Amino acid sequence: MMAISGKTRVCGVIGDPIEHTLSPPIQNAAFSHLKLDFVFLAFHVKAADLENAIRGMRGLGIHGLNVTMPHKSTVISYLDKVDSAVKFLGSANTILNRDGKLSGFSTDGVGALKALRENGAELAEKKVLLLGAGGAAKAIAFSFAQEAGSLCILNRVPEKAAVLADALNRMFGKKIVGGALSPSAVQKNLRDADILVNATSVGMHPTVNQSLVAPQWLKPNLVVMDIVYNPVETKLAKDAKTAGAKVISGVEMLIYQGAASFEIWTGRSAPIGVMRKAALNKLSNTGENK
Ligand SMILES: NC(=O)c1ccc[n+]([C@@H]2O[C@H](COP(=O)([O-])OP(=O)(O)OC[C@H]3O[C@@H](n4cnc5c(N)ncnc54)[C@H](OP(=O)(O)O)[C@@H]3O)[C@@H](O)[C@H]2O)c1
Repeated sequence: MMAISGKTRVCGVIGDPIEHTLSPPIQNAAFSHLKLDFVFLAFHVKAADLENAIRGMRGLGIHGLNVTMPHKSTVISYLDKVDSAVKFLGSANTILNRDGKLSGFSTDGVGALKALRENGAELAEKKVLLLGAGGAAKAIAFSFAQEAGSLCILNRVPEKAAVLADALNRMFGKKIVGGALSPSAVQKNLRDADILVNATSVGMHPTVNQSLVAPQWLKPNLVVMDIVYNPVETKLAKDAKTAGAKVISGVEMLIYQGAASFEIWTGRSAPIGVMRKAALNKLSNTGENK
């Protein structure tokens, strides 16, 4: 890390809980690699203290923040400006402080899109099957909807998938479908899918032996992105690899969404390799990180 000086810019992440966050090692490795006079810290902010924390950001001139659970939605009311993704999702994960004016962004969707592209998979004309309709799934659906050939969203609570599909259809004028995440629906939709994204928490530590997709439904010409990054290789990812599919790990989305935040704060191109190494290093040292 660069020596802290009188000009060091402070960035950080706010959440509750926060102690398991991977963002400080990832962002500090990137600042350090580019010799930027920035430092990144984790702040434990309880829900009742959020407004004061954001006042503190203005008052102390904290340059940038990542926002994680449980503040992603509530933080919006304290910001001056938000991007189109934040408006659609009703949540923000990145704040930039420009001379006291706070702008909110959501980088999960662009992070997922970049993870796909930079790993050699294209979306145009492709049939995408998205499992999940929670916060991350919504962000992914928003960023994939415009480009994908088709998008099918399946969720355990089917109404959430249907509401999301309807909202995207209204926005993009496309035929996006939403339905119940049953084994038969997954199997049926996988038959002609090109890209499968698991955006549920199934397979995440500690239930690492779970997957919503039976191994025999996977095929070599499929791209499988599992956004769960703990463990780095989920059961779904292992099964997909065995089936000969192209696998993109959740660490890729984690890095590219962090890279998007880094670029918003610094205006510089993020050193992806350095950030990936820092994330994998941290994940391999503490297998229980969230
Ligand atoms: N790689 C990255 O950068 C990145 C970024 C964000 C999140 N993530 C990971 O993505 C996962 C989801 O995060 P989130 O923020 O979207 O959480 P969330 O808003 O709580 O959504 C959880 C999703 O998982 C589904 N789900 C949970 N348990 C299930 C089960 N047993 N069977 C079927 N579906 C189940 C939920 O379905 P219901 O709606 O029916 O409950 C919902 O769709 C987490 O593992 C998180 O760590 C990764």
